[in-house]
Amino acid sequence: MSMRFLPRLLLTIFSMLGLVALSAALANGRSTKDGAFTAEQAERGKAVYDKSCVNCHQVDFYRERLARWENKTVGELFESLSTSMPADNVGGLLTSEYIDVIAYIFSITGSPAGDEELTTDNMDAIAVGPVQ
Ligand code: HEC
Repeated sequence: MSMRFLPRLLLTIFSMLGLVALSAALANGRSTKDGAFTAEQAERGKAVYDKSCVNCHQVDFYRERLARWENKTVGELFESLSTSMPADNVGGLLTSEYIDVIAYIFSITGSPAGDEELTTDNMDAIAVGPVQ
């Protein structure tokens, strides 16, 4: 093999390792089925939802839309919602309000509460589980 290919080869190997690491995180890691938020957090999220979301979306909407996020990370969902919603006040909520309202959406689509709050630190390691 000529040296010319070495950089590309290394790049390929490193990106494959990256993918393996990511899939391993998702495979071994938690999903929203494992208790990814607390009941108090979902309760706080309901207040945000009632104030900022309910006029445009009801539960059935989330059930249908969340299914499309299955196996993506909660971090990705957060990234998307915090830069697109509420449609009449994009980015207008606090980070904590976005996280709480996401917890509430999980709670009304069949995910159980747990002992630990959803945070910006753990959301990238939690996959969106199946919707019920
Ligand atoms: C003024 C109306 C309005 C408000 C208020 C609003 N939304 Fe939306 N939302 C929309 C529209 C319009 C869409 C795009 C609908 C579509 O794609 O069918 C959307 C899409 C979504 C989606 C689907 C995104 C996707 O990529 O799958 C989610 C989840 C969502 N909104 C959550 C929220 C949350 C949470 C709030 C409150 C913080 C909120 N919305 C407030 C109008 C609104």
